[in-house]
Amino acid sequence: MRPIFLITIICLFAGGCERDEPENVSFEKDITPILRRSCIPCHNQVRPQGNIDLSSYDALMESRYFTRREPIALPGNYHDSRLYIVVSTKQDRLRMPPPHSEFRRVSNREAERIRVWIEEGAKDN
Ligand code: HEC
Repeated sequence: MRPIFLITIICLFAGGCERDEPENVSFEKDITPILRRSCIPCHNQVRPQGNIDLSSYDALMESRYFTRREPIALPGNYHDSRLYIVVSTKQDRLRMPPPHSEFRRVSNREAERIRVWIEEGAKDN
C-alpha cells in the first residue's frame, strides 16, 4: 500500500471521529436554550439563587457565587468553570439543576456543548 493512501485513510478516520465533537458553539443558539429550560427558573434577575443570574450573557459573566471572586465561566478553562462542573459532576450535592428539583437535567450532549463553548473562549456569539 502506498503511504499517501494510508495517510488518506487515517485522515478520513480522524475526521470521522471529530465530527462528533460540537464545533463553533454559539451562546445564543446552543447555550441559551439549555439555560432557559434547566437553570433560569432559579437563576434570574428577580431570584438569583446563589447570587447567580443566568438570564443573559452579561449577567452570567458578571455573576459571582457569593464571596467567590472568579466568574462561573473562565474562558478557555472548563476544568475550573463552575458552570461546567455543576452540569457534569456525578456528585448529587453539587449537581445543577438540583436532582430533587422538577427541572430537567442537562444531558451529556448538552454538557459537552457547554464545555466546548467555554473552551472556545466563552464568547458572546
Ligand atoms: C431549582 C432551582 C435551581 C435550578 C433549576 C438550578 N439551580 Fe443552580 N443553584 C440553586 C441554588 C439554590 C444554589 C445555591 C446553592 C448553595 O448556595 O448551596 C445554586 C447554585 C449554583 C451555582 C453555584 C454553586 C457552585 O457549586 O458553584 C452554579 C454555578 C449554578 N447554581 C449553576 C446552575 C446551572 C448551570 C443550572 C442549570 C443547568 C442551575 N444552576 C439550575 C438552584 C437552582
